[in-house]
Amino acid sequence: MTRTSLASRPDRFDHEAFRLGEPLMARLAHLATFTSTPGTSTPGTSTPGSLTRLFLTPAHRAAAEQVAAWMRDAGLRTEIDAIGNVVGRTHPDGDGRPVLLMGSHIDTVRQAGRYDGAFGVLAAVAALAELRDQGRTLPFAVEVIAFGDEEGVRFPVTMTGSRVVAGCFDPAALDAADADGVTLRDALTAFGGDPAGIPGLSRVGRPVLGYVEAHIEQGPVLEAQDLPLGIVTAIAGATRLRATVTGTAGHAGTVPMSMRHDALVAASGMVMAVEHVAANQRGLVATVGQMLVRPGAPNSIPGEVEFTVDIRAAEDAVRLGGIAAVQHAIRQVASERGVSVQCHPIHDAPAVACAPHLQAALQAAIEGLGVPPLHLASGAGHDAMMMARLCPVGMIFTRCWRGISHNPAESILATDAGLTVLALCAFLRAYAAAG
Ligand code: HGY
Ligand code: MN
Ligand code: MN
Repeated sequence: MTRTSLASRPDRFDHEAFRLGEPLMARLAHLATFTSTPGTSTPGTSTPGSLTRLFLTPAHRAAAEQVAAWMRDAGLRTEIDAIGNVVGRTHPDGDGRPVLLMGSHIDTVRQAGRYDGAFGVLAAVAALAELRDQGRTLPFAVEVIAFGDEEGVRFPVTMTGSRVVAGCFDPAALDAADADGVTLRDALTAFGGDPAGIPGLSRVGRPVLGYVEAHIEQGPVLEAQDLPLGIVTAIAGATRLRATVTGTAGHAGTVPMSMRHDALVAASGMVMAVEHVAANQRGLVATVGQMLVRPGAPNSIPGEVEFTVDIRAAEDAVRLGGIAAVQHAIRQVASERGVSVQCHPIHDAPAVACAPHLQAALQAAIEGLGVPPLHLASGAGHDAMMMARLCPVGMIFTRCWRGISHNPAESILATDAGLTVLALCAFLRAYAAAG
């Protein structure tokens, strides 16, 4: 990553950015040690990493308690709520004051980078600590939320924490089970959460001013433009399908090739067909990221295969057309292969536009740091997609190395981390002044 010549900004931002960025990077490095698969992963390298922190696991619990401690250090009233979110408040909950929500998520994908999600939580905490240290008070309350489940990797549901806060959580999700058959309800209870307390966490009807999330870009645009920060215009819609292919299991040594209904060979044709659909539709991306093969024995012909298809587009019409085309292609291969297939959505989030007034306020904060404002859309999903069902949302992006994410090589500059904190401070000060 080429360093932005910070000289283009007054020196004080360089010094300030480093002063705030260094401790933030140290905290992110420490938080990365809260993982279900201990080991080492060095950002900026291709060393296979080991940061995996799934929802309601012991690693998530330990990370939540560490984040809660850092929130308390920042002077925030802190709790781990009934769904496993960590919430830090500048004022007592429900004191009637208008409240601005901030935050991101602290769960990760498997073999993750250390910045996706956690960066946005800890940058918001750092900004509130900085304002406190400056003796600044805000006329509104601020709640920083570390959502416990944005990625939706452990259970076949996503953005659980933000859905609960936004009042759009479907209680049926509590019956969703992980690969070991543990339901979300049982995992939540074992975590110390409270399924019965979930409805009370909704902020619907509360005086919520909006939700602002800082997040690494997870793409190459800011680095290509040699910019540390950007303003998010919209978040692409995302649909996740689960396909279950049923063929005929059999003995690998005795069934002639011409008599097989091999579920994995059929699924492989489906995966190629999915790629073909997306590669030939502008603005559409589709990914098969997870596949389970049963019975999974080297000498058995696969009888059943389950796989996921992640379909995204900035425009909902393109995504909906892509879903139909993908499902048609999958069924086409099934009939050619003499297998049956079930294919249904397990997650569906329409594209979300960021509120113009929050984009403008974040732009002013970024410009105040001497950074030319770049507006860009997000191909990645974020908790802001669910929070948009509750209130206006805004997002600020921070440059990341080669746009790499969902990969241990995910990496950011300390000065960019610090500039993000400075931008959040400037945004909060200006938002307070605007009244
Ligand atoms: O899948 C996403 O875009 C996000 O990382 N959950
Ligand atoms: Mn992610
Ligand atoms: Mn994320």
